[in-house]
Amino acid sequence: MTDTDNLAAAADASIAAAIAQIEAAADLSALEAIRVALLGKQGSISALMKTLGAMAPEERQARAPAIQALRQQASDAIAARKTALEGAALEAQLAAEALDLTLPAPEAPRGTVHPVSQVMDELAEIFADLGFAVATGPEIEDDWYNFTALNMPESHPARAMHDTFYFPDTAPKGGRMLLRTHTSPVQVRTMLAEGAPLRIIAPGRVYRSDSDATHTPMFHQVEGLVIDRDIHLGHLKWTLETFLKAFFERDDIVLRLRPSYFPFTEPSVEVDVGFALVDGRRVLGGSGDAAGHGWMELLGSGMVNRRVIEASGLDPDEWQGFAFGVGVDRLAMLKYGMDDLRAFFDGDVRWLGHYGFSAFDQPTLSAGVGARA
Ligand code: DAH
Repeated sequence: MTDTDNLAAAADASIAAAIAQIEAAADLSALEAIRVALLGKQGSISALMKTLGAMAPEERQARAPAIQALRQQASDAIAARKTALEGAALEAQLAAEALDLTLPAPEAPRGTVHPVSQVMDELAEIFADLGFAVATGPEIEDDWYNFTALNMPESHPARAMHDTFYFPDTAPKGGRMLLRTHTSPVQVRTMLAEGAPLRIIAPGRVYRSDSDATHTPMFHQVEGLVIDRDIHLGHLKWTLETFLKAFFERDDIVLRLRPSYFPFTEPSVEVDVGFALVDGRRVLGGSGDAAGHGWMELLGSGMVNRRVIEASGLDPDEWQGFAFGVGVDRLAMLKYGMDDLRAFFDGDVRWLGHYGFSAFDQPTLSAGVGARA
């Protein structure tokens, strides 16, 4: 027997063992070690391949198919084992990283909807039913929209009541930029942008340099504006009554309109709502004139001053309307019984957990806009 014969015989004998080894390889690195031992540069099958070069042509022709088949067998077995091992590794990874989507939700959802947000949603729902859209405007406002267009030219004494936060920047329309002191500038912006007729509410943040138990430098208002033909004070009174009855969910809400003054309305009225004293607490409902009752000032309103309609690009002989403005925080306190405004903005999770609302308590008219806390 030649050397080649010996090598071939040894290889033949060991190929069965080699394949058994390949099939038993426990992981990819063990398999790689076997591959190097058989097919690597110094591998046993590679050595066999090299013997072909030294053979005479006839011998090579006779032996080459068997040797090549051997190499093929080994590399097929290695490829098959590799696929099997990779598949198993992927299976194991998938099993380890599985997420059980059928797990129940955490027992106590932590987040709550802030009472101010809840009340704003209630307002939007009530007024949407009366045909009002929600309008917005910037909190960093131009002096002209916040004051001048609302019939408060520079040096108007009413400006002094607003405790305004001014920026150093000059405003495009004159004066300085400021943090809006009320939501009324949204009236002007919306009339200029959309013309008439118009029915909007504009809820949002407003700012005044003022802080004590009942005043915070930032608070919330909602503005109402109706512009149309032949609008009069009766429309205003009906709208406010309808709104407040829906909001407080009581049919016995009684309003008292008192003559007042705002530069942007003429005539102007302040609206009081009757309450009863129950165990020392004010409960809205009934006439404020009855025994044990009283009147509480709630909001400002009036017929839009023709100068405001003019500044807003409309003809005041054709278009009239009414407007009102009310504190949203105040409405929330009255409806849900909180007594310290400052707590609204402390971000104390205990307060929020107590007074906040479930995100599932979407106010709807059919279910009653008062969410159950
Ligand atoms: N802007 C007023 C304020 O902040 C509230 C107000 C009063 C708004 C009368 C109105 C209104 O639209 O007609 O004190």
